[in-house]
Amino acid sequence: MRIKNVISKRDVKLIKNTFKYLKKFKIHFLSIIFSMIIMILLGIIQPLIAGKIIEKVSLQQFNDIYYFLILALFIQIIESFITSLKSYLEITLNNKIILDVKNDMYNSILNLSMKVFDKVGIGEFISRLQGDVNILANIITNEFINTLISIIRVLILSIIILKINLKLSIIILIQFPINYILMLRFGKELREKNKSLSKIQDIYFNFIQQSLLGIKYIKTNNIKYKNFKKFNNISLILNQDKNKISKFHNFAYFIIKIINISNNFILNIFGLYLIIRGNLTIQYFVAFTSYSKQFSEDLNNILQLNATIQKSLVSLERIFDLINNNENWECEKFGPKNKKIKKANIIFQNVYFSYDNKTYILNDFNCKIKSKSLNVIVGKNGSGKTTIINLLLKLYNISSGNILINNIKLNELNEKSIRNLISVVHQQIYIFNLTIRENFKLINKNINDDEIIELCNYVKLNDYIQNLKEGYDTVIKENCNNLSGGQRQRLALALCLARNTPIIILDEITSSLDDESKIIIKKIVKKLSLDKTIIMITHDKDLINISNNIITMN
Ligand SMILES: Nc1ncnc2c1ncn2[C@@H]1O[C@H](COP(=O)(O)OP(=O)(O)O)[C@@H](O)[C@H]1O
Ligand SMILES: [Mg+2]
Repeated sequence: MRIKNVISKRDVKLIKNTFKYLKKFKIHFLSIIFSMIIMILLGIIQPLIAGKIIEKVSLQQFNDIYYFLILALFIQIIESFITSLKSYLEITLNNKIILDVKNDMYNSILNLSMKVFDKVGIGEFISRLQGDVNILANIITNEFINTLISIIRVLILSIIILKINLKLSIIILIQFPINYILMLRFGKELREKNKSLSKIQDIYFNFIQQSLLGIKYIKTNNIKYKNFKKFNNISLILNQDKNKISKFHNFAYFIIKIINISNNFILNIFGLYLIIRGNLTIQYFVAFTSYSKQFSEDLNNILQLNATIQKSLVSLERIFDLINNNENWECEKFGPKNKKIKKANIIFQNVYFSYDNKTYILNDFNCKIKSKSLNVIVGKNGSGKTTIINLLLKLYNISSGNILINNIKLNELNEKSIRNLISVVHQQIYIFNLTIRENFKLINKNINDDEIIELCNYVKLNDYIQNLKEGYDTVIKENCNNLSGGQRQRLALALCLARNTPIIILDEITSSLDDESKIIIKKIVKKLSLDKTIIMITHDKDLINISNNIITMN
């Protein structure tokens, strides 16, 4: 009954979620259980044979002793084979479960709302994907299977030891109520300790990720040493926490071991007494001590289950909160309508929006954007220009009002319709760490080499790329480090055009361009606007002059 206080309804749900991953691998799992049962049986026969051999030696009956020795050898060979098989099965099951859980987690991460990414550091995702998933798999393939086996073995062994000698069995059983109470206390403590460990682990991964992304900043601002010191500090805290848990774990184990040793001592004394009085044979005493040792180990395993679960629940929470989109892990939501939109008229109608539900960036914002036109959004830094784009892309949801595309509410369109409607060159450009050609194929799998060259020619990048040693097979380095700011923006524009969507959004793409490139862009957008809806955020006077519609943010 006491266990109810420690494991809540929510915890039970987490454990149920965990075992869902086992369903797919039923046969695999049953094979492990089957090999375990054979091991149990072999384990039960062996002490009897050992006892028999010792008894034969003590009675000096050497004739049939060889028979028992060969039998023991044979059983041990089978046992070794099954042990290896079982361990192989466990490892493969473990890997399969890890694969499945990681797939589910990664898929959930991809579908999280942008609001989550604003709050949660990337390191925290990595920490969950790496650390916590291993713990989940371990619960199933290690803890759960071992506990199940322990339960089966305890049931069999309890009958056997009771049959051999009732009084000795009672001595064995005395230790367990004490162990049980201890384990409950240890379990609660372990859960708390693991919770704080996970938090520090998140900080650790976040710190590394942030530092490596900002490596240029660290070098040029001469903060290498400070950065290293901070890393060292976090590592030390992490280490201390790990050591604390290990210390506590070992302390708990030590206490239980001491209880067990004392118990064995009493058992041996009493066993000897029974043998001297002729109430017990040597064979059965040898078998009994061996059984009772296994019995104690198994029963302790079962009692430890609570501690193990408590310890692992922290990880299970961290996994399933994410997979099931529980509080703080909201996922993106789209409407049901699938529309293939060719010409798009956009209306922002009384739109209110806030990133944090406190300060409103847009207060009753209204504007109309006609299809096949060149629109510019102008306004001071921080006035909400990029925010409008974020809302149109449905990266964030408006607080109230409406965004209408051809009089259909944006909220009613499904993900595919929106993504096929709009392409964008973001203010902060991101291009994948792949070759130039692969980057084009990634966003439009049907594009051929001629089309890629045509697009790059269009943005006046083809000559540059053709002159590279690897041409279109040049790998874009991380953070686009092998491209200049202007080249980056022009390649991003070519990639954006490769998607051929009715709406094209360009967020301050002329900011790093020289005059010559600006003229090129001007020509491109002018031409594009004959066929598509172009929305540009820009401070460039020339572009503003040629536009059909100016939206001013204040
Ligand atoms: N992800 C975000 N979370 C919270 N606040 C944000 C976020 N993005 C932008 N903001 C805030 O919203 C305001 C408008 O930003 P933005 O639309 O990017 O301005 P700009 O007009 O320069 O493009 C700014 O005050 C900015 O700090
Ligand atoms: Mg902006």
